[in-house]
Amino acid sequence: MAGRIPQEFINSLIERADIVSVIGTRVELKRAGKSLKGLCPFHDEKTPSFNVNPDKQLYYCFGCGAGGTALTFLREYERLDFVEAVETLAGIIGVEVPRERGREPPRDTALYDILADADRTYRGWLRRHPTAHRATDYLKQRGLRGAVARDFGIGFAPEGWDGIKTALSNIGVERLIDAGLVVRNENGRTYDRFRDRIMFPIHDTRGRVVGFGGRVLGDEQPKYLNSPETDVFHKGQELYGLFEARQASRNLDSAIVVEGYMDVVGLAQHGVGGAVATLGTAIGETHFRKLFRHTQDVVCCFDGDTAGRQAAWKAVLAAFPALAEGRQLRFILLPDGEDPDSIVAREGSERFDKRVREAVPVAEYYFGELERGLNLARIGDRARLCDLALPDLATLPDGMFRRMMVERLAQTAQVEATQLEARLGQTGRPRAAARRTAAESLAEGAAMSQLMRKLLHMLVRQPACTHELDDHLRPALVVAAQGTLLQRLLEYLTREPDSDTATVLARFLSDPGYEELATLAAQPLAVPDEGIVAEFRDGVARLLQERRRAERGSRGGDSESTESLLERAAALGARSRGPSPRDVAKAAS
Ligand code: UTP
Ligand code: MN
Repeated sequence: MAGRIPQEFINSLIERADIVSVIGTRVELKRAGKSLKGLCPFHDEKTPSFNVNPDKQLYYCFGCGAGGTALTFLREYERLDFVEAVETLAGIIGVEVPRERGREPPRDTALYDILADADRTYRGWLRRHPTAHRATDYLKQRGLRGAVARDFGIGFAPEGWDGIKTALSNIGVERLIDAGLVVRNENGRTYDRFRDRIMFPIHDTRGRVVGFGGRVLGDEQPKYLNSPETDVFHKGQELYGLFEARQASRNLDSAIVVEGYMDVVGLAQHGVGGAVATLGTAIGETHFRKLFRHTQDVVCCFDGDTAGRQAAWKAVLAAFPALAEGRQLRFILLPDGEDPDSIVAREGSERFDKRVREAVPVAEYYFGELERGLNLARIGDRARLCDLALPDLATLPDGMFRRMMVERLAQTAQVEATQLEARLGQTGRPRAAARRTAAESLAEGAAMSQLMRKLLHMLVRQPACTHELDDHLRPALVVAAQGTLLQRLLEYLTREPDSDTATVLARFLSDPGYEELATLAAQPLAVPDEGIVAEFRDGVARLLQERRRAERGSRGGDSESTESLLERAAALGARSRGPSPRDVAKAAS
């Protein structure tokens, strides 16, 4: 992995970038008072509701809620990951991206050129090498059309130990080793990694070749050989076929996750678009987060054998943390002995599309697998079901989907959903919650998250709110928000109290809560700007009151200092006419 990009650089990048020109070259904008307006590139519309605000350096769409900084825009519009977006923005401004010296070496941009050279060479060999017929015969025998081979840039590495070494001799063998194209054995001898193989170039989302997969022409082992991890190739992040799928269609209705290179290519050949594969590794959370930036609907299609079922189960658990509101995940298990490539060749695309349409939603799949082998007529098994499910469900982002999953579990286990919610709330802060009743925990949990979200919203829209917190309230609030994005934002604003929204967003780009923060930043508050400070004070008071109530429920006494802090908070609340704790509890139930 490349070294970290220094935070100051990202801040300065956002400050130096002009959001109007970044967006203006991609979307037609017209002046409308202080801001600019245009047709939103993120949803279909006929009248412009997409706004760019040059003062705040933010954009926001009143139609679909998309919004953020110049960097967010590039991420979303060009569908880049964080580092790619920073690099692109730096490129627009015309500066180099510095890297912090650390465990990791700086990103080696020249590797891309070497890999591009190798890619050109392998493709050339598929067309012109004296032994190319071996490869083309193989591809023909597998039914692959030339046009598809071209779309995927398929190449050929001929037999022999020094094909690529010689062809790229101008580069130098050490660099070829860095690029993963050449291997050095214990005796110091160097030779081509890929020999007598069909070559599948792996592209990143910007279309640069970052690595290769190579398949043998016969039954030798290993069947596939992949590039090793290099400065530019990270198997945990890349997905084979994603770039090609996006070339074919800018907006992916859905992505189909399959296991192999040939599955991706085979599906494309039969007109089934959007297939992607991991690179000989299990699909992970990072893969899912990446996919969900390109589509809201991901369908995992695995073999119906034991290995396939295991892969699907791993996929479910890896996907849970990435299942934010509106994202769909579904599963297809193929009949035993089939893979997507073989089945689409046999059945054709219509039947395959039908399988995709009828894929099993993640909730159903998850509980189906979990309940397998349990006898739900038995109380013990129903308890076991809860024990198994709750830690998984706790990894889901807070929201409607999680609530529905808990509801579903409650029905099957024949317990109250509120009891499960209470236990769910305990994961991460088990001690404090231990002695609360379920109803209390539920009321508090819901109100807390609503309140905290609201505070977060106000803070990110108007970071100056942080000046409202004095030396006593601030730590109490940090404690109340423990373990949340709100806590991290509060701590940041303690250090940098004069940050504006854009700086905050820049600082949090690599925070797991970034997406949430950016979404909130772009959403106007229900209160007018002048009212935010009062609302904020109000919210702080309510949050601390809630916390006091919870603490009283969990233990008899309370430390003096906390108590006095809370009195202070209550006084604050009275000053800004806040609702009573009873109102808050009522609103939460
Ligand atoms: P499969 O063995 O299912 O192969 O491996 P496949 O995709 O059906 O391949 P064909 O149809 O025989 O050509 C699935 C994926 O697992 C990884 C590769 O990424 C492959 O596409 N794999 C498999 C390896 O990395 N090494 C191997 O030796 C085998
Ligand atoms: Mn296959």
